[in-house]
Amino acid sequence: MNLGFPLFPEQASAMAPRVDALFFVLVGVSVFFATLISLAIVVFAFRYRRRSANERPAEISGDLRLEVLWTVIPLLFTLVMFAWGAKLYFETYTPPRNALEIHVVAKQWMWKAQHPEGRSEIDELHVPRGRAIKLLLTSQDVIHDFFVPAFRIKTDVLPGRYMMVWFQPSRAGVYRLFCAEYCGTQHSGMLGHIVVMAPSEYQKWLGSGPGEDTVAGAGARLFQSLGCAACHGEKNTERGPALAGLFGTRVRLRDGKAALADENYLRESIVNPQAKVIAGYQPIMPTFKGLVSEEGILQIISYLKSLEPREGTREAQ
Ligand code: CUA
Repeated sequence: MNLGFPLFPEQASAMAPRVDALFFVLVGVSVFFATLISLAIVVFAFRYRRRSANERPAEISGDLRLEVLWTVIPLLFTLVMFAWGAKLYFETYTPPRNALEIHVVAKQWMWKAQHPEGRSEIDELHVPRGRAIKLLLTSQDVIHDFFVPAFRIKTDVLPGRYMMVWFQPSRAGVYRLFCAEYCGTQHSGMLGHIVVMAPSEYQKWLGSGPGEDTVAGAGARLFQSLGCAACHGEKNTERGPALAGLFGTRVRLRDGKAALADENYLRESIVNPQAKVIAGYQPIMPTFKGLVSEEGILQIISYLKSLEPREGTREAQ
């Protein structure tokens, strides 16, 4: 069926039926009131038409009960729509803790994805059915937009920061991925496919690639080759803070403020180290901007996340 020009995308994620329910209620309410108002205009135009040249209508002074009624009813409708929409929005952008994290880097004009086990792919994304998938997305040039209609997810992918979105594919199949933000001459060709597989097939697919290192393992090698360990090694913590157990904690900064050490914080600390220096340290770290790719930064962050907290580190969030 759905190959030509589908009027409505199929529902292939756990969120899809819930988004559609809200959408249909919004359309239903709009159609109901649009019809009601259109009919009222036609009926009143006939009923209150001018019947003779010297006809004078009676003066109307207003009706408080009517005013209150048609203010309160639409207010209740819009409040319900707002609360319902906000709930779905927050759920879409708040991944569950056990989600499988996949990195996506957009560039003119392709989508590059890397799985935690190390396998990477371009313009395709293989995922297991039924599992919550969290995407950590960034762009290496301009603004793109990751849009999978069948999953009802869509998020801008911005250079210089990480966006997060998640979905739980409910049906095996191949679904279209679009770039939904004009990003240059080949924007319309920036397409991809999401391949949803049975979990066992996904495991097989992961194993069928070239024997790559895990993302965290690749990050560990970058950490060594870029010389990070010279200041952030386990024993050398005079010039830079130790990084084990740092992720997800709230850190105190030199200027007295605090920051949550999340993915965006770690990325900023690599490309713009002077921005948020941890209390007790000097702003002496050089920038690594341009020295490491977006994929590399994501790998280093994965490595830092994988480091177990040591004894007596900061309290976790
Ligand atoms: Cu990328 Cu449009």
